[in-house]
Amino acid sequence: MKISVIGTGYVGLVTGTCFAESGNDVICMDTDASKIQRLKNGEIPIYEPGLEELVKRNVLEERLSFSTDIEKAVKHGLMLFIAVGTPPGEDGSADLKYVLEVARQIGKNMESFKIVVDKSTVPVGTGDKVRKAIFEELKKRDLVDLEFDVVSNPEFLKEGNAIDDFMKPDRVVIGCENVRTAELMKELYAPFVRTEKPILIMDIRSAEMTKYAANALLATKISFINDVANLCEVLGADIDNVRKGIGSDSRIGYSFIFPGAGYGGSCFPKDVQALLRTGSEHGYDLQILDSVEKVNNRQKEVMYKKLEKACKGDLRGKIFAIWGLSFKPNTDDMREAPAIVLIEKILAAGGKVRAYDPEAMGEAQKVFKDRIEYSKKSYEALEGAEALLLVTEWNEFRRPDFDKIKTLLRRPLIIDGRNVYDSARMKIRGFEYHSIGRA
Ligand SMILES: NC(=O)c1ccc[n+]([C@@H]2O[C@H](COP(=O)([O-])OP(=O)(O)OC[C@H]3O[C@@H](n4cnc5c(N)ncnc54)[C@H](O)[C@@H]3O)[C@@H](O)[C@H]2O)c1
Repeated sequence: MKISVIGTGYVGLVTGTCFAESGNDVICMDTDASKIQRLKNGEIPIYEPGLEELVKRNVLEERLSFSTDIEKAVKHGLMLFIAVGTPPGEDGSADLKYVLEVARQIGKNMESFKIVVDKSTVPVGTGDKVRKAIFEELKKRDLVDLEFDVVSNPEFLKEGNAIDDFMKPDRVVIGCENVRTAELMKELYAPFVRTEKPILIMDIRSAEMTKYAANALLATKISFINDVANLCEVLGADIDNVRKGIGSDSRIGYSFIFPGAGYGGSCFPKDVQALLRTGSEHGYDLQILDSVEKVNNRQKEVMYKKLEKACKGDLRGKIFAIWGLSFKPNTDDMREAPAIVLIEKILAAGGKVRAYDPEAMGEAQKVFKDRIEYSKKSYEALEGAEALLLVTEWNEFRRPDFDKIKTLLRRPLIIDGRNVYDSARMKIRGFEYHSIGRA
């Protein structure tokens, strides 16, 4: 099938590459000329395990190409996937300016039947807005009879595991009101659901809502466990035991009940906010979700509060080492990362920060510029530091050389925002060790 993906970010690049890998003829288009140039030069602009190899193979086999030319992209694909960003607007609602701009561009350039597939995360009702924006442009061109279909196909991939998630999804959700188009969408996705995972065809509004409901529920699980973890600490219970005790209940399960420094990333914070906004715009108060967001904002400050207490409120002039900056391991994405809140608070209190992350140093430099120091190696960050703060649980931090850490730090203080280390062993090793929800 001929496919164009408009917007070549995390989702667009993975989507286009995986469709090419299953034999389709794909153009990935983006307005960011430097990004497209880098891709044409064989450079992958994001860190995503396994992506580089797939992109290179499909470019070589001429199933995947990159372009900044929207006209070419619209003419090429029978299916036009919209995968541009939907960042939060000032009031928290999803800003649809990029999505609707693409819709207008499609209306300006299409000359034959197109299936316009919205893969960006968008509020309920966006399908109608996309249809209207395309139609308005066709009207200007006297092409009101030119047919097109609008489909909602939300994406559920996780950064850091995006290829696997796309290639082997738990389900594919397709909001589509035309039987023929639904069959084509099923054909496109058939190679990815060979283990009988479902392709769920539904109306467009339900598909749009499904994406928000999924992210909202996952965010709820995280805030719930963080809330319980904080109470465990007060009561002298251990969240690790509690987590195992509840996770073994098949109705609850183990995933997304690890306590930590709060959720971040490009999706949960903005999607929770957007759904809250949708509720309030329609006079419905989403009370659970409101608390989920409040709990998360508070949780992002928990590591700092532990540090402040351990330093008796005086951080001035002291250096603090941070391990892990990205919002989670296996990505370089720093959007809404808990590390940002922690670092800003340390700096505001007069402390200094020396940071290390295996992949996110470039992104961190965009955020902090020269306000913090950057280490090329993990242990380098520790030299003469007052404490080590572990914010992101990259694998390389799981079994470090604790003797070396102790020698390098000025004070054997570790604040572990991901409960990576064993409390009892850390005590035996002579560390002052603080983690989340463990007495
Ligand atoms: N990142 C994730 O893990 C993830 C997962 C599921 C869903 N989503 C959703 O997918 C959408 C895209 O997210 P992302 O993380 O890939 O965003 P991103 O910011 O990484 O990429 C968006 C791209 O769109 C491009 N763009 C903007 N306007 C354009 C236009 N008019 N024409 C062509 N390109 C244009 C930008 O230059 C950018 O490269 C969002 O709605 C997001 O919520 C993201």
